[in-house]
Amino acid sequence: MDNRPIGFLDSGVGGLTVVRELMRQLPHEEVVYIGDSARAPYGPRPAQEIKKYTWELVRFLLTKDVKMIVFACNTATAVAWEEVKEKLDIPVLGVILPGSSAAIKSTVSGNIGVIGTPMTIASNIYEKKIKDLSPQMTVNSLACPKFVPIVESNEIQSSVAKKIVYESLAPLAGKVDTLVLGCTHYPLLRNIIQNVMGPHVKLIDSGAECVRDISVLLNYFEINRSRNIDNKKHCFYTTANIASFKEIADSWLPVTVKVEHVRL
Ligand code: DGL
Repeated sequence: MDNRPIGFLDSGVGGLTVVRELMRQLPHEEVVYIGDSARAPYGPRPAQEIKKYTWELVRFLLTKDVKMIVFACNTATAVAWEEVKEKLDIPVLGVILPGSSAAIKSTVSGNIGVIGTPMTIASNIYEKKIKDLSPQMTVNSLACPKFVPIVESNEIQSSVAKKIVYESLAPLAGKVDTLVLGCTHYPLLRNIIQNVMGPHVKLIDSGAECVRDISVLLNYFEINRSRNIDNKKHCFYTTANIASFKEIADSWLPVTVKVEHVRL
């Protein structure tokens, strides 16, 4: 038993899609979340800069005495997860391996699509992981740099969002039966993405898939939070505007959250 919170990090609001799934699957756990919206998007930035920012988020979470850190960000996972995992003595989880395994499980044709930020796609990490696990798979990867800004500015319902998603995904049309949402911001655009890809394409939410791994690790290390403690104090921190973070968090999560501003 370990009643300390689980720490989540993301470049902004995208990791809330992972937290939502955590609250559904593991409702007893307590959350500390840090979103670096002031510096989002991370995707177009150089690897060294993303690594530096990710370490700042990790150090912040460590000051909150977390029992585990979840990289609820594919871009940070692609660039910094290996290094951070080696250096910390608490479990550190990323979203890419769980997303890759789920895609392999889902595909029938063996043609998997992956969409992500420019850094995630340039790193080729999904293709490597998928082919490591199952060499006969074909992977079509596509960077969608315009998606994160739409989500961060909460324009997900706009006609501009529909147009951008439609145009961006055109190169994948008819080529895949499974599409990995390789960025935790993208599930917020899920309905539009599904409409564009068609009902026969299975969407894989890499963040949601990672919650199963969180559960496995909590059980393995016997660090679940006690079911007898009722008062959970989730803490959400943003490096940018509290009001816009809160608007997205409140509409996306099953609870109303308290958000604080933090300067890293
Ligand atoms: N949610 C982050 C991811 O999963 C978005 C990164 C960005 O800010 O570009 O990759």
